[in-house]
Amino acid sequence: MSDVRAADYVGFETGTDDAAERERFAAIVEHLRPECERVIAQYEDARSALLPILHLFQNEQGWVSPAALRACAQLIDVPLSVVESTASFYTLFFRRPVGRYMLQPCRGVACIIRGAEEQMAHFRERLGIGHLETTDDGLFSYEEVECLAACDRAPCMQVNLEFVYDLTNESIDAMLGEMRAGTCAIARRTQTSPPRRTWIIQQDSGKKSAGAQDVLSPDDPGGIGDRSGKDMLRRIERDPELLLARPTRERLVRDGVAILDGEAEKH
Ligand code: FES
Repeated sequence: MSDVRAADYVGFETGTDDAAERERFAAIVEHLRPECERVIAQYEDARSALLPILHLFQNEQGWVSPAALRACAQLIDVPLSVVESTASFYTLFFRRPVGRYMLQPCRGVACIIRGAEEQMAHFRERLGIGHLETTDDGLFSYEEVECLAACDRAPCMQVNLEFVYDLTNESIDAMLGEMRAGTCAIARRTQTSPPRRTWIIQQDSGKKSAGAQDVLSPDDPGGIGDRSGKDMLRRIERDPELLLARPTRERLVRDGVAILDGEAEKH
């Protein structure tokens, strides 16, 4: 593991060479170092420890600061670009300070079919903020995210990375009420830096992801506006039978070659 020194973090988080900031972050690294070492030792390749280490920094700071990205790169000895591309790929990592509750409803096709559009509108109305925004009191941040792999309990969401299933407008109101009252079972996030009203993801390509083909701005929530989602809904309108369960053919993948069941013996 690379030696991580306080001097490596001068001004990284604040954009200045603020000595107090530098000291604060150095203390965080020292505090996390034993746990990082324990995690890294579990893997043959230190690079495999990247996600858990990012989580350690995020839990400590409430977000993954630029200084934390750099520290992770040094701890596992990979280029900063590897850490940045990993952290920016997952909506599990917050690259800006966020609210005490990070609300991430799913905007994937299964959730949309089960009414997520209505619930997303409900969230926006109740919170008074939109996609990638934080309430002025710093309590809630809101981000509509891609499929959370819990399609069987759609519409669903993550709150501070914990799953909440089978959303209804009523369950959302109850949950927000508990969060405001401080009685919610999901713990509030650590908040070491005040969040801004919005966090904008700078991107040159003009498109958010391969799936968001009709979404021109990287900060546009997309969702039902995605071409792939629209195509799917059109197909379901034409043929509602598509929604009925039917047997599927199991697929084996061997050496990168897909083999349909029943045909496996021939190969
Ligand atoms: S589409 Fe929402 S969890 Fe899969």
